[in-house]
Amino acid sequence: MTKVQVSPREWFDLQTDVDLLFLFEGQAARKLLSGKAGRQLEESLARRGFSAGSGKTAAVEIDIASGRRLLIVAGLGAKDELDTRRLHRAAAAAVRAARACKARSVGVGLPGPGGRLRDVGERCRALFEGLLLGSYTFDRYRSKPDNAPPARRVIVAAGRHAAAAKKTLAAAVALGEGVALARDLVNEPAGTLDPVTYAGRIRQHFRSKKVQVRVFGRAQIEKLSMGALLQVAVGSEVPPRVVHLVWRPARPRKKVALVGKGVTFDSGGYNIKTTGHIETMKCDMAGSAAVIGAIHAASRLNLPVEVHGVVGLVENLVSGKAYKPGDVLRTRSGKTVEINNTDAEGRLVLADILDYAGTTIKPDLMIDLATLTGACVVALGEHCSAVFGRDEDLRKQLLAAAQRAGELMWPLPMIGDYFEQLRSPIADCRNTGSRWGGSITAALFLEQFVGQTPWLHLDIAGPAFLEKQDPFWGEGGTGAGVPTLLALLSGLSL
Ligand code: BES
Ligand code: ZN
Ligand code: ZN
Repeated sequence: MTKVQVSPREWFDLQTDVDLLFLFEGQAARKLLSGKAGRQLEESLARRGFSAGSGKTAAVEIDIASGRRLLIVAGLGAKDELDTRRLHRAAAAAVRAARACKARSVGVGLPGPGGRLRDVGERCRALFEGLLLGSYTFDRYRSKPDNAPPARRVIVAAGRHAAAAKKTLAAAVALGEGVALARDLVNEPAGTLDPVTYAGRIRQHFRSKKVQVRVFGRAQIEKLSMGALLQVAVGSEVPPRVVHLVWRPARPRKKVALVGKGVTFDSGGYNIKTTGHIETMKCDMAGSAAVIGAIHAASRLNLPVEVHGVVGLVENLVSGKAYKPGDVLRTRSGKTVEINNTDAEGRLVLADILDYAGTTIKPDLMIDLATLTGACVVALGEHCSAVFGRDEDLRKQLLAAAQRAGELMWPLPMIGDYFEQLRSPIADCRNTGSRWGGSITAALFLEQFVGQTPWLHLDIAGPAFLEKQDPFWGEGGTGAGVPTLLALLSGLSL
């Protein structure tokens, strides 16, 4: 992973291959450098029509006192609108541009204050996060090493702000690691990451760390009466796993349960998915990956919050034994469910692990994350997650955390009337309603298994996996949810 360091020097005093500088729309580029070099830079940017739009970059060669330098100028957009998201975007786009120039070492000038990022500490944190997340690559499966690997060292020239900057570095590195861990898991093909190998990787990852990992196999899952999760898993040769992780600090202030959907591949089952919908379904464990990434980061930062992670790992496949439409399952809670669509498997897995988490952990609050519905992507697009839950206070806290973390999340309503759609003629309920409002009926289905615990459901089906390159997240698995969870957990520990 790229190493980010802080230096008390100015960027032009560093000896690096490339330097990244940030510019607001309408800000005079000439002020970034003194004298003639400043004018040259401004002219050169003007000639290319570079106007410092958010996420845009331009590479310019300039002679300054210390010699000829390659500069990458990254646009921050309007000064009043600066926030974590914009800075993440600019910093990530800038390190990607540096990578394209084959830079091994990169110097970075501190962006100026603006919008929500007036505080230098907050600004540094967002900058470090953007630099780290923009340096992520997944090239395990390339036979030749990439000829432009990410930079080894990124040095942020913080000048007189070096002390404030250094204070925020640990949090940014913990987030960068948590997100990279989640992304590696999501990017891993389903052929190598099945429920069993996944559970093994979780165990391996936390082996030397202060996080307790319990892995439940089929027999134990049966003992735990997780009838719905087990039925989903039956179509696969590979048995299911439920993993319960705990980060337990010395004096915890709160107890939080994070619950994640871990469908390592979702074929749809007998309601099989068709071409165009099935290709990316290795990503259907992204909710569980976010839980694991967040716990990694919380433990790295020693957060004084007890964090439990519960993930249900299954493959939704077809076989002679697979569950079928019309089947009735008995969930751990005792409620029975008539299956009217085998492709709505995530809610069945979550039903059992939400019930397990609520009743055995008895947390102060519980959040589940899942790539649950295509309808959510239709509603909010590919970049925004939906937030469901009736606890207004908790919802507000989460949305504020998302804003600080730079993630797009938006509330959708729990419309109780729609529960009618889930009535079954033969069981306590069915697993799907009509096509319209499909994310809402999914959330109403989950709510039945939550009990009295304050609870939120995050549908991350849109941003968890991106097929087109995004300036900040790149492509493939994104680690969506990890930044917000970490921001929320950090807020709870104040
Ligand atoms: N894993 C899918 C949801 C999904 C869709 C995730 C697109 C990521 C991108 C989920 O299990 C599913 O298939 N949901 C169905 C529900 C329907 C049958 C009620 C859907 O969204 O079509
Ligand atoms: Zn499905
Ligand atoms: Zn699914």
